[in-house]
Amino acid sequence: MIYNVKVAKTWLLLKINRSITFVSTQILTSYVLYMTRPAMIVANWKMNMRWAEGLALADAVIQRVSPFVSPTLQVVLMPSYLHLAALGARLTSPPRGIQLGAQNCHHAPEGPYTGEVSVPMLHDVGVRYVLVGHSERRRQWDEGPTLLAHKVTAICSHGLQPVFCCGEQQRTTMQSALAIVQQQLADSLFHLSEVAMSQVILAYEPVWAIGTGCTPAPAQVQEMHSGIRETIAQQYGRTLAQQIPILYGGSCNPHNAATFFTYPDVDGGLIGGASLQADAFVKVVEAMHACPRVCLR
Ligand code: PGA
Repeated sequence: MIYNVKVAKTWLLLKINRSITFVSTQILTSYVLYMTRPAMIVANWKMNMRWAEGLALADAVIQRVSPFVSPTLQVVLMPSYLHLAALGARLTSPPRGIQLGAQNCHHAPEGPYTGEVSVPMLHDVGVRYVLVGHSERRRQWDEGPTLLAHKVTAICSHGLQPVFCCGEQQRTTMQSALAIVQQQLADSLFHLSEVAMSQVILAYEPVWAIGTGCTPAPAQVQEMHSGIRETIAQQYGRTLAQQIPILYGGSCNPHNAATFFTYPDVDGGLIGGASLQADAFVKVVEAMHACPRVCLR
């Protein structure tokens, strides 16, 4: 009897020990992957900036942002199609570390698609990232989940990286917002292989926060990002989920950026209005740069 109790005690202790080791390894792995995940600030100029204005803004931003850019903090400029080639040239000679992104693409490599621009064409002018699934394109051009899935596939298959936007239309509970976002991810991303998925950047943008000056509380954004990461983990495993940057977008500006960026699952921002003025945009980049995960590395 005494012997049995002793065996049971030892067995229990071993079990507890193993669980503690397992949990601490998980926490440590998550922390290491968090610290190695790049932070990212993306400027979405939308349909703004005439030719000369765009060049002037790009020059100011390039000059003031370049010192902050490193493998741990990436900055991407997404101007209109019109500015891409000129900015591509400015960003590469000499190399500034800042990357070029496009706001849209067609999913076919070439063909009779009047007015469209293909991924290989974007590639040729130095584009590395392409925005997909922005709510303005979903709503104004009726871009549905299947079309978005085709675009994502085209972007990945040409070696570029999609910045995939997701988010709920209206303020609602966390539970239903997460369910909407999960559906968007499943519909347009979960056909990807692990290799392709590892190239994706996610941007959580609650539609009601875009251009309105209203935002969710930063803690709610953290909760949503952590829910998104968990969803990716269930589909592709925890390691891959920990590697994917998840950006927040929607009225993110110099006044609130630092608060969002202190949360562990908020890896940067997709910046609309505040990217149209060099001062404001530089301050957002500075806010990310000041975070320990960037400045301590
Ligand atoms: P906003 O736009 O920063 O002006 O809200 C963000 C976006 O639409 O990407």
